Amino acid sequence: MDTNKIILNWYDLEKRSLPWREPNKNNIDVYKVWISEIMLQQTTVTAVIPYFKKFISRFPNINILAESNIEDVLTYWAGLGYYSRARNLHKCSKQIVEKFNGIFPNDIEILIKLPGIGDYTASAICAIAYNQHKVALDVNVRRVITRINNKHNLCNTSIKKLAENILPLDRPGDFNEAIMDIGSKYCKSKFPKCSICPINNICKTFRFNKSALTNFNTIKTSKNKITRYGNCYLIKKKDDNKFLFVRRPNKGLLGGMLSFPSSLWVLDKNDIPNDKLFEDLIKHENIKDYIHHTFSHFNLILNVYYIIVINRVDIEGEWLDIGNARGQLPSLMKKVANLV
Ligand code: ADE
Repeated sequence: MDTNKIILNWYDLEKRSLPWREPNKNNIDVYKVWISEIMLQQTTVTAVIPYFKKFISRFPNINILAESNIEDVLTYWAGLGYYSRARNLHKCSKQIVEKFNGIFPNDIEILIKLPGIGDYTASAICAIAYNQHKVALDVNVRRVITRINNKHNLCNTSIKKLAENILPLDRPGDFNEAIMDIGSKYCKSKFPKCSICPINNICKTFRFNKSALTNFNTIKTSKNKITRYGNCYLIKKKDDNKFLFVRRPNKGLLGGMLSFPSSLWVLDKNDIPNDKLFEDLIKHENIKDYIHHTFSHFNLILNVYYIIVINRVDIEGEWLDIGNARGQLPSLMKKVANLV
């Protein structure tokens, strides 16, 4: 299936229901799209929702906003931060009423000349409200597009081109919002949830097993501590819910504790030694996640493999339900268990 179909199918089933999203495309109100996009700059969706609702009930359209005084507008913005956004919004509403008869322009070149509207907001308005073939490139969209393509050092223009190549002609607004949702829910900057991401099968970073490597570089580790790297294996029997656990050697870190099998933890992230048995098991696996843990004297980043085995009698260890084992696990391994 085409990349854009996969993304839109996911969006149709799983999109977030947000107060500025109009399910009926014929009823989209450009005013609401504009207000939401301005509020969402540098501010999270969760923080914006109550402000958006109150703002829209007080200033339901551009004429009412333009006629209001700035103090009133600022009152409704209080707590949201970046108050120049509210001042520009107010100025912009006046210009639209005076110069464009209260009708929001649908030409990107005109939009970006208005107060507070830059390339991102103009593109979002054109795509979402006017169904134009535009990409609204914010940090989330940039991250998703670079990861899908496994190209991590591109300038914004090149990233936009890659996004435009997969942007569907018929639903550009939904596609932009779908990428935003995937960026916020799965393709997170520090700890992306690749193993459950709906587009991991089309993501080249994930496919080429570089997700961990890429993110090793972005994970913030505690300063003044060395970082070690290792592999850890969630090995599950196909027909029941039991996972393989081992006891760590009595001597050394986490001595004697129950644990998922893991490799040695080494300083070179490109040279993690796998046990021969696990080497065989992970040969065809590319489903991974990773966790970060801080010990008193070093940081640890573990690449976690999820492996389902059918009938392996040559693996030594205890097969236990995660629920039963959890209470005995050290916190590092609880983090691994939480990935299941
Ligand atoms: N962030 C910026 N614009 C957004 C939108 N339209 N939906 C969800 N998150 C966003």
